[in-house]
Amino acid sequence: MAKSQVSMTINGKAVDALVEPRTLLVHFLREHLGLTGAHIGCETTHCGACTVDLDDKSVKSCTMFAVQANGANIRTIEGMAAPDGTLHALQEGFRQMHGLQCGFCTPGMILRAYRLLQENKSPTEEEIRYGISGNLCRCTGYQNVVKAIQYAAAKLQGMPFEEAAE
Ligand code: FES
Ligand code: FES
Repeated sequence: MAKSQVSMTINGKAVDALVEPRTLLVHFLREHLGLTGAHIGCETTHCGACTVDLDDKSVKSCTMFAVQANGANIRTIEGMAAPDGTLHALQEGFRQMHGLQCGFCTPGMILRAYRLLQENKSPTEEEIRYGISGNLCRCTGYQNVVKAIQYAAAKLQGMPFEEAAE
C-alpha cells in the first residue's frame, strides 16, 4: 500500500515518518515510535486507555489515523515528567493518592486529566467525574482517581491538598 509522509511534534520532538493511510494513531505511536504508554483497551472509542493530548484536546488515539495527525502537536504520557525525571503533579497525585491499581487506564486517565485541568484549574468533584467519564477503569472504583486529580489541581495552584471528609 502506498505510504504517506507525516510530520508532527510529539512530546516536543519533531517526528517525520512514512505511514500507510490505514495506520491508526495509537499504532503509529506504539509500534513505529515505541511510545507504548498509550494503551489499547478496546479500539472502539469506549475505554479511553489510548487518550493523548492533540492540539489542546483530549483525543482517543485509536479513533484517528496517523495521517490525520499530520502537523499536530501531541503529548503522550512519556512527555509528562520533566526532563530531569521530576513527575508531573498528576503523576505524583496518582502515586500519592493510590489512583491506580493495575495501571492499564492510567496513562489515558492522566492525559485526560491534564487537559481537564488546563481548561478548569479548580474543578469540582462532579466536574472531575464528568471530565473523566470517557475513561474507564475496572480496578479503582474511581474514588482515588478523583482524589489524585484534586491533589494535582491543588499542587498546580501552590495550595495544600485537603481531602474532603467522607
Ligand atoms: S483503545 Fe481507544 S478508546 Fe479504547
Ligand atoms: S487501574 Fe486498572 S484499569 Fe484502572
